[in-house]
Amino acid sequence: MNLNFNPQHIVILTGAGISAESGIRTFRDANGLWEDHDIMEVASPQGFDRDPELVHRFYNLRRQQLLSDEVHPNQAHLSLAKLEEDFKGKLSIITQNVDNLHEQAGSKNVIHMHGELLRMKCVETGKSLLNKRDIHVETPCPCCLKTGNLRPDIVWFGEYPMHMAKIEEELSQCDLFISIGTSGVVYPAAMFVQLAKSNGAYCIEVNLEQTQVSDDFDMHMQGPATETVENLVKLILS
Ligand code: OAD
Repeated sequence: MNLNFNPQHIVILTGAGISAESGIRTFRDANGLWEDHDIMEVASPQGFDRDPELVHRFYNLRRQQLLSDEVHPNQAHLSLAKLEEDFKGKLSIITQNVDNLHEQAGSKNVIHMHGELLRMKCVETGKSLLNKRDIHVETPCPCCLKTGNLRPDIVWFGEYPMHMAKIEEELSQCDLFISIGTSGVVYPAAMFVQLAKSNGAYCIEVNLEQTQVSDDFDMHMQGPATETVENLVKLILS
């Protein structure tokens, strides 16, 4: 397998599949349930309005898991960090994941389009703040000092993803687009391949299985991310 060209600008989209082998469960592997909750219950503004304490508890557990000794970046995250370090051109990672495993692995240029577990947001001022602690309804907001104003800084269903202008610019300029471990069913991320391709980028998909958008890619690499990403990175750097 070879690439037949030397890319100058790489954009990599990652999804839950890249963190699966670090012990973080993907979204669609559990019959519409996410860690035993209906997704809409814990990942929608309506769910938060109905039961904010349940939603806080859910994200508190996800945050605790991320900060625990159980979860570490895997070979796929590490390989992408090495690629960013050794690649001579421009490279950015757009992730749908709310974990910080890319950053823990050493990646610098990471765009979190669905927010971050280690950030919280004040609903009154819109300010985003770093946070490693549990949040409860009665936790006072450090910026407005009121209770009940904090929410996870995470994009929920029905909300607009973050940094879209920057993402569209990157996708329109890249010559190599790589999608890793994402099911291709959640928009707008599912259409990034079409945007990159229509601007002339070569497109590679890495996944355990074929996805709904596999046919849009020029190359499909099938297998666990920890193995396939390392091989792909060697191919690009060779
Ligand atoms: P999904 O759970 O929808 O899909 C995970 C994908 O990873 C599937 O295509 C699997 O085949 C693949 N996969 C699983 N394990 C893998 C492995 N070890 N190596 C390679 N591939 C593997 O997750 P996402 O596509 O990331 O949004 O979901 C997109 C968005 O839907 C999420 O960001 C989240 C969710 O609702 C929000 O929270 C806003």
